[in-house]
Amino acid sequence: MTPDDKKKQVALAALDYVEVGTIIGVGTGSTANHFIDALASIKHKIDGTVASSEATAKRLKSHGIPVFDLNTVDEISVYIDGADEANHHLHLTKGGGGALTREKIVAAVSKKFVCIADDSKLVEILGAFPLPVEVIPMARSHVGRKIVELGGQPVYRDGFVTDNGNIILDIYHLQIAEPVKLETQLNQITGVVTNGLFAIKPADILLLGSDNGVKVVD
Ligand code: A5P
Repeated sequence: MTPDDKKKQVALAALDYVEVGTIIGVGTGSTANHFIDALASIKHKIDGTVASSEATAKRLKSHGIPVFDLNTVDEISVYIDGADEANHHLHLTKGGGGALTREKIVAAVSKKFVCIADDSKLVEILGAFPLPVEVIPMARSHVGRKIVELGGQPVYRDGFVTDNGNIILDIYHLQIAEPVKLETQLNQITGVVTNGLFAIKPADILLLGSDNGVKVVD
């Protein structure tokens, strides 16, 4: 199976976690896109969605799936999204597509977070994939210096602007032994909007597409 076949397989499996008659949160990225396409087949069973990016909102709407503003919604039953890396504690790194802030907001509101990925994303130690940090533009140099003090190597994602009008610094050469601690430290740097560690509030369930079918880690 190709990685994309595994993403499709796990996206289909995620339909089982969609709760009938509720509003669900929908993530961003290639795996989430497969989920959106699959969701179209059962769209009549849900009340609607909250999207974690403009790109996701556009794709949902193209299938005729209702998309609500988060501020008009009381409850999200489940959030379904991909990840760049996941460990066995279901700590994740996310934001390769730059949508980390809205992803973290929608995940925070959701009662359950189901993470979907191909099995190459499961790692022992997070950090081989550069960790994205969304930053207020004028704080770029300041935040970069603080990241160096923490032992990382920040690289400006050239030409990229987030849906919120901010920039991204990708942190290379991290071995994230303590994800909760690093997530907290990064959050405390003035000028940081969000970082791509999802460890303080990890996923609840991880579904992995593999050659031997979908594996469930919880
Ligand atoms: C988007 O900002 C990311 O958090 C994605 O969810 C993550 O990068 C996974 O993307 P793929 O499904 O494309 O691998």
